[in-house]
This record gives sequence, C-alpha cells and structure tokens, in this order.
Amino acid sequence: MTMRRKMAAGNWKMNGNSAALSVISELVATHTAKTDTDIVICPPAPLLFRGSESASASPLAIGAQNCHSAASGAYTGDISAPMIADTGATHVIVGHSERRDACGETDSDVRAKTIAAWDAGLTAILCIGESAKDRDAGKTLDIIAAQLSGSVPDHATGDKLVVAYEPIWAIGTGAVATTQQINEVHDFIRKRLVQRLGDDVGNAIRLLYGGSVKPANAAEIFKCDNVDGALVGGASLKAEDFTPIIQALVAS
Ligand code: 13P
Repeated sequence: MTMRRKMAAGNWKMNGNSAALSVISELVATHTAKTDTDIVICPPAPLLFRGSESASASPLAIGAQNCHSAASGAYTGDISAPMIADTGATHVIVGHSERRDACGETDSDVRAKTIAAWDAGLTAILCIGESAKDRDAGKTLDIIAAQLSGSVPDHATGDKLVVAYEPIWAIGTGAVATTQQINEVHDFIRKRLVQRLGDDVGNAIRLLYGGSVKPANAAEIFKCDNVDGALVGGASLKAEDFTPIIQALVAS
C-alpha cells in the first residue's frame, strides 16, 4: 500500500494584510516537530515573501492561490509561477472554483497553470468540485471525471500534484458534505487517477477535501479512506481554529 503524507492546507483567499503574518508566526511556533503531515498556508500574494521568510527553517510551507500559465510577459496584474517560487513559496493552488467562476478559468487553463507550476518547481494543489445544480441533477461524478481529465496533465506525480475536492455548495456555507458524499467522490477520484496514471502515481497523489472544514467536523472527515487532508478556507485564518484541524489530521 502506498503511504501518502497528509496535508493541511489553508487558503486565506483575499483576506489578511501584514498584521496576519502573526498567524504564520504562531503556526511556526506551534508546529515545530516533524510529523507525517505537511502544513501549507496560502496567503494573498503580497504576503508571500514575508510569509516565506517567517516559515523558513520550519515544517510550514507557503503557497500562492493562483499563477499565470506563462513565465513572464505582457500580462498586467498577473503573477507567474517562477515569481512565486522566487518568494520562497513551494506550492500554488490552481483551478479554485472561485477563479473558475469569477475569472472564467477553464479546465485547459487550469492544466496549463499546473504545468507552469511544475516547470517552476512548485507543487500544484488542483481544485475540482461540482455545483449544487450539478449535484441535484445527478451529474457529480460526470463533472468530476471531466474536470480530472481536462485539468490534470499526463505527467503528474505524487510529489508535484495534490487534488482538492471542493464541492462548491459546501464552500463558505457551513454545509459540509457528508462522509458518505466525500467517500463516494474521493474513491471515484482515486479510481480515475489510478486508471489514467497507473497504480504507483495514482495512489501517490494526495486527495484533500475542502468546504466548511472546521475543528468540530475535521476528525470525522479525516476518517474517510481516500481523504489525505483538507484545504481549509475560513478556519485557516486564525491559528486557534487551524491548529485543532492540523492536530486532528496528525492524529488520524
Ligand atoms: P471554507 O473552508 O471557508 O468553506 O473554504 C473552503 C475553500 O474554498 C478552500 O479553498
């Protein structure tokens, strides 16, 4: 059986200014021991440099929330994967549903961003997930299958790729998916990755659940077989909320 390291990733979205760097310092101070769990904080881009400095020489890693697919060029306002790597960050979220929705990112855009992240030496945390409408129409697994085949590049490996399943209806709503729903989708994602990439790679890619993960529900979610961790929004903004989630993952 493939042993996968676990991952607790925090997506701060467009929240937090320099005062929020104290949250990173607090997490660095709390999580000094090396465990089987990777901890990644993805702050807004202006905090990447200082966040990476605070986390250097600690088990904490820093990630960005998006990157452009080109390494440089006339793309006003965008940030490239090599620029992210230059800050000391090691991860980048790609294909978050908020970007797919608000910025019209397609699966092929997400695929190109993932390749750009890898070219810059970053680990991509690639998000997929169905809307409430898709789920009500019984299309959840079709949507997941299409997103996986359209956005995961062929040469994926367990080191470079983490897949986050975030049902859109569970993001920021408090409406966490049931463990039955999570199991169904995560088992399906695992099966698809193994079919496409083979046993070794398919079983090495970590699968995170995201959508209203809180200290109160984390332990239950982490019992699911193919859940290797969580991508946490709101509850990653305060060390006092994120730490019990990390602890539940380490203990799982
Ligand atoms: P919440 O944990 O706030 O629901 O956000 C989830 C998310 O979108 C993480 O990327």
